[in-house]
Amino acid sequence: MIDVRRITPDDARVLRAVRLAALADTPHAFGSTLERELAFDDADWSGRAVAGSVGDERCTFLAWHADGRVVGVVGGYRVDAMAGTPASRAVDLVSMWTDPSVRRAGIGRRLIDAVVEWARTARAERVELWVTNGNDPAQHLYESMGFVVTGDHQPLPSDPCKDEIRMVLALS
Ligand SMILES: CC(C)(COP(=O)(O)OP(=O)(O)OC[C@H]1O[C@@H](n2cnc3c(N)ncnc32)[C@H](O)[C@@H]1OP(=O)(O)O)[C@@H](O)C(=O)NCCC(=O)NCCS
Repeated sequence: MIDVRRITPDDARVLRAVRLAALADTPHAFGSTLERELAFDDADWSGRAVAGSVGDERCTFLAWHADGRVVGVVGGYRVDAMAGTPASRAVDLVSMWTDPSVRRAGIGRRLIDAVVEWARTARAERVELWVTNGNDPAQHLYESMGFVVTGDHQPLPSDPCKDEIRMVLALS
């Protein structure tokens, strides 16, 4: 019924649609904003789809419903690859969202599993993420997958009045 697959370069349009839906649905959950990403052009979305489709620096996974809708998205990227610090070997999990019509059906867990599996293949030592303080559904989801709160926190980039907290999953 739900198929979780890595994005392909042909999925730029559906990536745009699902990402804008996520930002409109739950603005407090993300560091970016709908206004910012509405300004991205086709080349931006195409570049994102291509970058997430191959390799071990960046990944994007989409959850496809049997009716053809994309009902979930998640991304991951190698922090060390971005920052040029090869010692850290951490993956940041980002952009987690499932469509309200399919929540509590295990799709969030399957999307996290996909990023964790990709991170293991990329020989990362841990998966990290930021979650907005008070976003209990997301924090419960991550805790149910073994993530623990680290004690690190920072202002949410899209709304610095809010705080986001760091969680981490060590990969054995
Ligand atoms: C958080 C979110 C991704 C969860 O997606 P989902 O597909 O409903 O997650 P799952 O069905 O896999 O849930 C797995 C577990 O997470 C926890 N969980 C999920 N939603 C929850 C809720 N509303 N309240 C409490 N726990 C919840 C539960 O432990 C659940 O297991 P259970 O259903 O067996 O009790 C989804 O609610 C969402 O997209 N929210 C808005 C965007 C967002 O907050 N993204 C996170 C950014 S850091």
